[in-house]
This record gives sequence, structure tokens and C-alpha cells, in this order.
Amino acid sequence: MIKKGIILAGGKGTRMSPLTKAVNKQLLPIYDKPLIFYPLSILMLAKIRDILIIVNKGELEQYKKIIPDGKRLGIKITYKEQDKPRGLPDAFILGEKFIKNQHVAMILGDNFFYGQSLTKMLLNCVRNKSGAKVLLHKVLNPEKYGVAKLKNKKIVSINEKPKKFISNLAITGLYFFDNKVVKFSKELKPSKRKELEITDLLKKYKKKGKLTAELIGRGGAWLDTGSIEDFYKTSNFVSAIENQQGFKIACLEEIALNYNWIDKKKISTAINFYGNCEYSKYLKKIIS
Ligand code: G1P
Repeated sequence: MIKKGIILAGGKGTRMSPLTKAVNKQLLPIYDKPLIFYPLSILMLAKIRDILIIVNKGELEQYKKIIPDGKRLGIKITYKEQDKPRGLPDAFILGEKFIKNQHVAMILGDNFFYGQSLTKMLLNCVRNKSGAKVLLHKVLNPEKYGVAKLKNKKIVSINEKPKKFISNLAITGLYFFDNKVVKFSKELKPSKRKELEITDLLKKYKKKGKLTAELIGRGGAWLDTGSIEDFYKTSNFVSAIENQQGFKIACLEEIALNYNWIDKKKISTAINFYGNCEYSKYLKKIIS
């Protein structure tokens, strides 16, 4: 059972400058909440309650203003600062003390997931006993992502941002690993773009026959909010769903309450914390 999770919320967000000059991308709004709420909600839906958030050096205080620790949510949150981005697998080197001898999930701070059977899939993924598991989703622009080619439901090859078409199945930014991930990450060498690549890490598992994949089908949505265009696309998606159904996506307190990690009193504390806003109105509705 995977009980620990990491959110990689560093990065300079250069593609979104000047928006990201003063504020980290993961603190910018996706419709009515900071982007970081969405990946955090995914780990919470997977019943992961011990979470490490990796942020850029100097940005910790900003994050703590919105998520000081996990108390409001009945979870444990710790932070670690990264002095410069060295690629996704660096999270497991920085997080070694946090991971200890456990298995771990990692989600990229800018990844958005949504879908009817998502929670079921997540709860299945955290049961992963050994090896690595990735979630794949069909896209029209695979050259922007890491991709995986499947044969008889098995991964036969993995490529990072392939220039030539190999597969239209993107490897999304949510990964489930056994404890070997720390050792394997330390063995990696930087790629041409001078970063440790997640796809190289996955290849190590694949070589040992220890890499499996789940497919997020057409009923599910995966959006990577890497560019301004994607950011607004995701915001519009959230707005459309929330304003049609009246349910909020990634309401952290609602997830915690549904899992009985917090009681209604904690929701009142949260309402005081957020102040008079739409999010608080929603929380009031939940406990009334
Ligand atoms: C990273 C990974 C890539 C993955 C993507 C998902 O790309 O390197 O394999 O498909 O995240 O968001 P980046 O966003 O750093 O370009």
C-alpha cells in the first residue's frame, strides 16, 4: 500500500512569464482555486495522507500561506526546498529521508486529472506491491510529452518528447513507485537538456519487467497546464463542470470530510481561514 506522496511544485514556469515572475505557477488560479489544490486533491483521493511538497528555494512562505500544514485537512504535509530544477527524478533524491523504506507516489504540481472512475483507479494504483506504475492518456500532440507504446497491454517502449510519431499515449504526470526509486534515481545521468528524465527512470523499471500501465480512457480528462493556453483551457473546464453541477472539483476539505479524516468543526475552521468567498459558501453548504 502506498501511503506517501510527493508533489513536485518547483520549476520556473518560464513558458508562462510574466505571470510567473513574482508568483510560482502552482499558486496561480485554475478557475477558483490555486493550481496546487488539484494535484493535492488527487493524492488525497488516493488516500495518501503523508505528503511532501517540493518547492523552489525562497518560495516556501508563499505556499505556507495557503497550505501551512495538513491539520486543516487531517493529513500531514511537509515541505522541502529545491535550489534549482534538476529534473523530475530529483524529487526522489531530495525526498529520500521522507520516503524512508516505503513506496511512494509522485504527482507533478501542474497536472490536472478528472473523471468518473478516477478514484477507483487511484485506489487500485496505491495497492501496487512492487515495480512502477504509470497512467497513460491518449493525446493529439504526443511530441509534447513522454510517450509509451503498448503491445498486448504491455509497455514495449518509452520515449521523452519524440520528434517522430511513436505512440499517441502520453505518460501523465502521476507515478507510483516501489522503494527502489531512490536508488534508481541516484544512478541516472542528466540528459541532453541537462536534467534527470522521468522516462529514463521508467526505462530502468521496464528493463527489469517491473513497469505497468493503466489507461485513462476517453471518459477521463488529463490536462497538463504547462502553457498559458493550457492553463485557460483547464480553467474553463473546471468552470464549466462546477457551474453546471454545483459540485466543486478539488475541494480539499470536502474530500477529507468524506474520508472521515476531519469533522464538521474543522470545516468551520476552514471557513474562517478562507473568509467570505465562494469556496467558503460551498463549505457551508457541505456542513449544513
Ligand atoms: C514532464 C515529463 C513527461 C510527462 C509530462 C507530463 O514533461 O518529462 O514525460 O509526459 O511531464 O506532464 P515536462 O512537463 O517537464 O515537459
